[in-house]
Amino acid sequence: MAMFNILDDAFDKSYAVPQFNMNGMIWLETILKTAEECQAPVIVGTTDRIVDTLGGFRLLVQTFRVMKEELNITVPAVLHLDHGQSVERCLQAIDAGYDSVMFDGSSLDIEQNIKSTRQVVEYAHQNGVPVEAEVGSIGGTEDGVYSDMMYADLNDCLRLVKETGLDNLAPALGSVHGRYQGEPNLGFKEMEQLRSHTNVPFVLHGASGIGDAELKQAISYGHAKINYNTELNIAWSDALRNVLNDNPELYAPLEILQPSKEAMSVTIEKILKRTGAYQQSRKN
Ligand code: 13P
Repeated sequence: MAMFNILDDAFDKSYAVPQFNMNGMIWLETILKTAEECQAPVIVGTTDRIVDTLGGFRLLVQTFRVMKEELNITVPAVLHLDHGQSVERCLQAIDAGYDSVMFDGSSLDIEQNIKSTRQVVEYAHQNGVPVEAEVGSIGGTEDGVYSDMMYADLNDCLRLVKETGLDNLAPALGSVHGRYQGEPNLGFKEMEQLRSHTNVPFVLHGASGIGDAELKQAISYGHAKINYNTELNIAWSDALRNVLNDNPELYAPLEILQPSKEAMSVTIEKILKRTGAYQQSRKN
C-alpha cells in the first residue's frame, strides 16, 4: 500500500513539522484551525497513556477525520500515536486508522526493541503507515510519569534503523519531556555523527523549552519532526488560571475556555514559525 510520510517534504527542504499533543477536544480544534490559518503542515499526537481517557483509538480517528472535514482543513494534517506502549497497541491504532505510529521500546534491551519494532513496521507498512521508534531514553515527565534520561548509543541507533526498516528515528540525545531543570543541553556532536551514518528523518522529543538557535541546529542535522506538549499545556493552564482567578463568579465553559484556546493558538503559531513549517503549504 502506498505510504504518505508527512516528514518527507520537511526532510527534503530542511524544515520540521511540529507534533502537538492533544489532551482534549479544544486542543484538536485549535491545532487544526491554527495550522490552516498559518498554511502549515501539522501532526496531532496522542500519547498512548491518554488515548483511553480521550475515548479510545476509534473515537479519536473518527473525531480527527470529521473535525478536519468540518473545519475545511486543506493543509497536510495527520493523527499520530505518540509513545505506543506495546506492539499490540500500535497494531490497534493502525487498525483504527491512525496515519502514523511510534513504537516506544526505549525501556527494552536493544534486541527486544529491534524485534518488537520490526513487528510493528511489518504490519504498519502493509497498511501504508510510517513508523517512528526510539533509542535511549528521553526522560523527564510526561502524562505525570517521570523517567530518567539516557543518551542513545550510536550502534544501537544504526541497528534499529537497518534491522527494522523504520521510517523515522527518535534518538534520545539530551532533550527531556516536561519542564527543563536548568538549560537544555543537546548532544549536537552525537547528532552530527549519527547523521553521517544514516539518512532517515530524526524526531526531537521534549522540544518545549529549547531555544530557537538550538532548534535550528537540530533541524540542520535532519530532525524533521519536533514534538511539543508542555509548551501548549502551559499556555492553556496559565490562561485558564487567569480567567478563573479574575472572574470567580464565571461558570460558562465557553467563556472560561476561550482565552485558553487563544493562548494555545498564539503558541502554536510561534512554534510553526520556529520550526519553519509556517506557510510551507502555500509553497507546495
Ligand atoms: P515536551 O514535554 O517538551 O513538550 O515534549 C513532548 C513530547 O516529546 C511528546 O512526545
